[in-house]
Amino acid sequence: MGGHVLGLLVPKSWTAAVGVDEHLYHLVSVSAGTVAGLMVVAGLALLLARRLTSPRVRRTTTRADKVLFTVLAVVILLGMSATVGKNLLGGGYDYRATIAVWFRGVLSFRPDPDLMTGVPLIFQLHAMSAWLLAAIWPFTRLVHVWSAPIAYLWRPYVVYRRRAVPAGGREMSAVRGAAAILLGAAGAAMVAAGPVMALKGARGRADIRAELRGQAISFPGQAISLSGQAPPAGAPGRDVLTGPQARAFAEVIGRNVLAATGGRTYAEVSAELMAAGGDDEALTRLRQTAFTGQMLRASLLNAYQAWQVTTLVIGLGALLTVTGAALLAASALLATTG
Ligand code: HEM
Repeated sequence: MGGHVLGLLVPKSWTAAVGVDEHLYHLVSVSAGTVAGLMVVAGLALLLARRLTSPRVRRTTTRADKVLFTVLAVVILLGMSATVGKNLLGGGYDYRATIAVWFRGVLSFRPDPDLMTGVPLIFQLHAMSAWLLAAIWPFTRLVHVWSAPIAYLWRPYVVYRRRAVPAGGREMSAVRGAAAILLGAAGAAMVAAGPVMALKGARGRADIRAELRGQAISFPGQAISLSGQAPPAGAPGRDVLTGPQARAFAEVIGRNVLAATGGRTYAEVSAELMAAGGDDEALTRLRQTAFTGQMLRASLLNAYQAWQVTTLVIGLGALLTVTGAALLAASALLATTG
C-alpha cells in the first residue's frame, strides 16, 4: 500500500524535486513492489490454506468470504502480473504519467478517462478489479480494516482447547493437499523471482563499475583522474570502481574545491564575482573550478546512491529466495504430515 501511495498519490514532479530520477524510482518501485507483492501472495496462500484446512474456519466461511477471496486474489494477481510482466521483465511502463494522474483525478472528482485509453490492458484490468473490490468492501469482512480493536484490551481471555481428532480424515487430507500445492506455488514463484532480482541488481552494479572505469575526470588547475593521481584517502593508488570508493573520492573533491576557493562554495564565489561586476578573470576561473568540482562530486555521489540501490535489490532478491525456500519446505511438510 505504501508503494501505491508513493506511486499513485505523489506526483512525479515531487519525487524529481528531491533528486529521485525516473531510473532510480523505477529500480526502487519494481524491487520493493515485487517483494511486497510476493509477500501478499504468500499471505493470501497462507490464509486460504487456513480457511481450507481448519474445519472450524471452513464451517464459518460465508458466500461473501468466497466472493471477497476471489476478487482480492484477482486484484493482487493482476497487480503482480503488471509489475513483474511490464516493469520487472518487460521494457517498463511509466504509469506515473497516466494512471497516477487519472487516479488522482478520480479522487478529486475530476476524472479524465482519456488518460487511461492508451494504458496497457493489464493495468486497466488491475484498476477495474480494484474498483470492484472497493464496491464489495463494505459487505465483506474487509470492513474490519476500518475498526480499531480497542475492546481487546479489556475483554475476557478466550481459551482455546484442542478437540478430539476430527471426523472426515480423507476429506481433510485432500484439503491439506490443496493447501500444500498453494503454498508450494507461492514458494516456487518466490524462488524463481528472487534470483532474477538479485541478477538484475548485480547487472546494475556491473554497469556502475563499467561507467566508473570509463570515466576520466579532471578540472582546471588540479588534474584529478579517476584512474590516475590523487586517489581517495584510504585507497592509495587504486581506481575508483565501487560506490563507497566513489563517495570517498567525492569527499576528496569536495575538500579540494574548498581548498582551491579558500573555503568558499560555488554560490559564494558566484556572488563575489557578481559583486565585482562580473569581469574579474581570477574569480571567473575560480567559479569555473568550483562549478566543475561540484558537478563531478554530484555525479560521483549519484553513482554511490545507485550503488546503494543495487545493494538493496540484491539483498531483497536473496531474502525472497530464502522466504520462497521456507514456503516450499512448509508445503512439503504439510503434504507429508497428517
Ligand atoms: C484503482 C486502484 C489501483 C490502481 C490505479 C493501481 C495501480 C497499480 C499499478 C500502476 C501497479 C504497478 C506498480 C509497479 O509496477 O511499480 C500496481 C501493482 C500492484 N497492485 Fe495496484 N492499483 C490499485 C489498487 C490495488 C489494490 C486495492 C490492491 C490490493 C488489494 C493492489 C495490489 C497490487 C499489487 C499486489 C501489485 C504488485 C506489487 C506492487 O507493485 O506493489 N492494487 N497497482
